[in-house]
Amino acid sequence: MKKQNNFTDIYSYFILKKNINERMMKKIFSLLRVDTTFMTTSFNRMIDVNIILKKYIKKYFSKKIVVCDFAVSSGQSTLELFFDLNKDKIKELYGFDKKINITIYQVGKFIFLYSSKDELLMVEYNKNCLRYRYFFLLKLVEKILPNLFNKIYLFDIINIKLKKTKLLIPNLDEIKELKFFEQDIFNIDKKYFNFFDVVRVSNLLNYSYFSETKLKKAIANLKKITKENSIILVNRTPNNTKKNTASFFIKKKGKFKLIEDINGGSEIKELML
Ligand SMILES: C[S@@+](CC[C@H](N)C(=O)[O-])C[C@H]1O[C@@H](n2cnc3c(N)ncnc32)[C@H](O)[C@@H]1O
Repeated sequence: MKKQNNFTDIYSYFILKKNINERMMKKIFSLLRVDTTFMTTSFNRMIDVNIILKKYIKKYFSKKIVVCDFAVSSGQSTLELFFDLNKDKIKELYGFDKKINITIYQVGKFIFLYSSKDELLMVEYNKNCLRYRYFFLLKLVEKILPNLFNKIYLFDIINIKLKKTKLLIPNLDEIKELKFFEQDIFNIDKKYFNFFDVVRVSNLLNYSYFSETKLKKAIANLKKITKENSIILVNRTPNNTKKNTASFFIKKKGKFKLIEDINGGSEIKELML
């Protein structure tokens, strides 16, 4: 069997905010696990669906719109969405994900990447990713380190560097319309109820990730955050092809109505209706 190369460089990516190529971005994000999902993403995987979404925005909206991209991972596909749609039509584009805010600790050649809830998302040693869940010791470290790191005097004894940053590609903050926040699709903040004209959910609401009960809960929340007459796109990019299975909906009288399927439609379209 071919040995998997787990080379990563999360330090340059998230601390130095260096622009890194697609291969590196795919590698790092596919190693990051969030509950039952991975943060796997790649460049230009939504071109086909974005073209159709642009068509519907032109058809249904005359004023500037507020858009939501749920489950953004690195933010790369959110950036592409901004440029693929008519950006003069976008008032604000919100990128939501369960994990965005992170703390990185550097101890010698070790880098520990923690979520805002102190879950250990990745450990890198000398640019190699350690799959921490296989290591008993690192599992122990996961629980102990955030507390230890919070004791300031330790920073004086061992040379620990700490940086609070975001799990996003560099330079997204240069576009004023783009805003990224942590939101859980199963528990969305009330301030976003009846807020969005357009919502896209890509590669999250899949049967392989969640039970039908959980998918229904997420869909009920999508109904809460969308306005009447809003457009909703749910899609999946199978096996990293760029041919999405997708369904487009319009919200009428509080219900989602199917307007178009491509490549057979979304696997959860029956649940949406
Ligand atoms: C496979 S990635 C998809 C990324 C991007 N949409 C794309 O298609 O390239 C799944 C994303 O869903 C996020 N996620 C997982 N559970 C979530 C939840 N409950 N609420 C919001 N985002 C979640 C993960 O953090 C990850 O970034």
